[in-house]
Formats: sequence, C-alpha cells, structure tokens
Amino acid sequence: MINRPIIALDFPSKMEIDTFLKLFPADEKLFVKVGMEIFYQEGPEVVRWLRSLGHDVFLDLKLHDIPNTVSRAMERIAGLGVAITNVHAAGGIEMMTAAKAGLVKGTPQGQAVAQLIAVTQLTSTSEEQMQHDQLITASLEESVLNYAKCAKVAGLDGVVCSALEANKIHGVTSDDFMCLTPGIRPAGAAVGDQKRVVTPALAKEIGSNAIVVGRPVTQAANPYEAYQAIKNEWNGVK
Ligand code: C5P
Repeated sequence: MINRPIIALDFPSKMEIDTFLKLFPADEKLFVKVGMEIFYQEGPEVVRWLRSLGHDVFLDLKLHDIPNTVSRAMERIAGLGVAITNVHAAGGIEMMTAAKAGLVKGTPQGQAVAQLIAVTQLTSTSEEQMQHDQLITASLEESVLNYAKCAKVAGLDGVVCSALEANKIHGVTSDDFMCLTPGIRPAGAAVGDQKRVVTPALAKEIGSNAIVVGRPVTQAANPYEAYQAIKNEWNGVK
C-alpha cells in the first residue's frame, strides 16, 4: 500500500505547481502525479525538478503504441527516476511486456525499477460507447477484468481503476496487484466531473492500494490541511 495520497498536479505550468508546493512545509515529501498537460508544457525537466525536491512521482502518460516504440520510450522514462508510470492495456500483452522490458533496461544501476501499471477502460468510456466504438460485445466490467488479467500476464504491477472495481480485480489477479484509484472525495467535498466517487476510508476498506486526489487538495482553501485530513482518513488515523 502507498501510504501517502498521490496528489494530481493538474496545473498548466511549473510556476503554478511551484506556488502550490510552497503551501506545504519544506520537509513534507509528497507523492505527486504528473500528467500529460504539464509534461507536454514543461517536458521531462519538470519531473527532474520534482525529484530534486524529494517528491516521488507517478508519471501518468498512458503510453499506447507499437511494442518497440513503447519499450524505447520506457527506457527514457526509466532514466527520470519516477516511482510509477503507465500504459494502456488496450496496447496488448506484447506491448505491455515490451514496456516492462524497456523500463527494466533503462533503469540505472542501483535504482529501483518503477512500478508499471495499466489503464483498462477509461472511466470516461460508457459501456455503450465501448461496445459501439471498440466492437467489444462483453460488458464493461468483463472488459476491465480482462485487461487487468492481461496486465498481470504481462508482468505489470497493477492497474488504474475505480475503487469500486478493486475487489474484483484482486480476485482475478492477486492481492498484491496494485489497484490505484482516482475518483476520491472526502465526505462533503465537491464532486466536480467525477461520476462515481468514494471516500478515502471506503476506498481502503474495499481494496484500493493507492489513491489519487486532485481538486480536493489543489483547490482547497488550505491545501496542506486538506491533504493531512485525507492522508489521515486513508491511513485510518482518527
Ligand atoms: O481532481 P480529481 O481528484 O478528480 O483528479 C483525479 C485525477 O485522476 C485527475 O488527474 C484525472 O485525470 C485522473 N484520473 C481520473 N480517472 C481515471 C484516470 C485518471 O480521475 N480513470
């Protein structure tokens, strides 16, 4: 289990991230998520900068391409010293296996290999859309579970999923297969555009191994206080 909630740094530039991080005590080492928006704006340098401040990074770029290309991209990502990164399970078992191999190959000696997780069906995809656009006749849940099994076969460490799916995913993979779950809202917080949200305590109870939290921290009046409250709830500290 990852004890710290992973904070989604959904900001348009490094400057906003810097301002945000200054709201935390300097010695508070965070686990942050860097997504496409900020990565495409600032490039890999933003990851190096966050690492130099002592923060752990989940690089959420959701790679999906031919195995050779993904493998080579993962070699580059491995050099950034991220703790977690990801691919789309839709790329297939061969692509995921190649991604993992690239990550291992590119990891400098003495450094831990980043955990590699898969995105199954995006939570923005409805069952109807999946069946129409992807010509998948199974249910959305069957597709998610199938992708999780493929990720496990490919030697990945887990998946990004809804906390509500974590239990079933563990059932078809293993208890130690990481279910990293966004869509987390402390009781009473604004839901925003998320449809199916759960509290940190419930996420833990129903099998999440790590939680990703964005706006409940980044948009809070006091982000550090909001972070501490979510962290305590996630860790069962009263
Ligand atoms: O602000 P909020 O807590 O909703 O942010 C959640 C973060 O997790 C965002 O960066 C969002 O893109 C990401 N995410 C998600 N649902 C997924 C995958 C990623 O909310 N299925």
